Amino acid sequence: MAKSTNITAVDHHVDSQHRRQRFGHDGVVIWLTGLSASGKSTLAMGLEERLLSLGYACYTLDGDNVRHGLNANLGFSPEDRAENIRRVGEVAALFAEAGLICITAFISPYRVDREKARFAARRSRFHEVFVAADLATCEGRDPKGLYRKARAGQLHDFTGIDAPYEQPESAELVIDTSSQTEAQSLDLLTEYVVRHNPQAPGSSLPL
Ligand code: ADX
Repeated sequence: MAKSTNITAVDHHVDSQHRRQRFGHDGVVIWLTGLSASGKSTLAMGLEERLLSLGYACYTLDGDNVRHGLNANLGFSPEDRAENIRRVGEVAALFAEAGLICITAFISPYRVDREKARFAARRSRFHEVFVAADLATCEGRDPKGLYRKARAGQLHDFTGIDAPYEQPESAELVIDTSSQTEAQSLDLLTEYVVRHNPQAPGSSLPL
């Protein structure tokens, strides 16, 4: 995989236990996957805000944002999406390694790419969350007008229209945003993350 030769890993002077003491919780990846307009970004940003106010150290990596910077050279072919998710999977794993809760919001349509992201973060540190709004609901929302463009043939390789979305088969959490309100979905997600990542007593510094 690595192209470079003559590279030697360097040891850190602190380990995950030191980082846990510093932040009051372990680092993990909360990986949101689902169709465009399923509600991934809304939930991710809402979760980030709530977790911060509860005293967690966290950050959201969002598809549209990351594609403006780190992944600005990638499009939407299967190969480019795979590379998009590979990079984000590795970055999210680094965030978790650093002790943070890293929330990601990417369509990540291919199962094999999501599994690689899970592997990068080591299995115990990765929680896959399927934001499960059906296509008709997402298309009805169409906040960016992209489904309309895709149906009109002005946008190609659009997920759900002429590009595939492979649903998770064993996500740790499924949130159906088509049958729940935004507040209900956010409550469910926050409760799940807090339950699986308890803070050490007395360690949180609420804002
Ligand atoms: S992924 O498939 O590679 O995971 P990512 O989450 O980074 O996608 O980006 C998806 C966002 O890019 C969508 O929310 C949408 O705003 C925009 N977009 C532009 N073109 C496409 C397309 N062909 N398919 C899906 N999303 C697209």
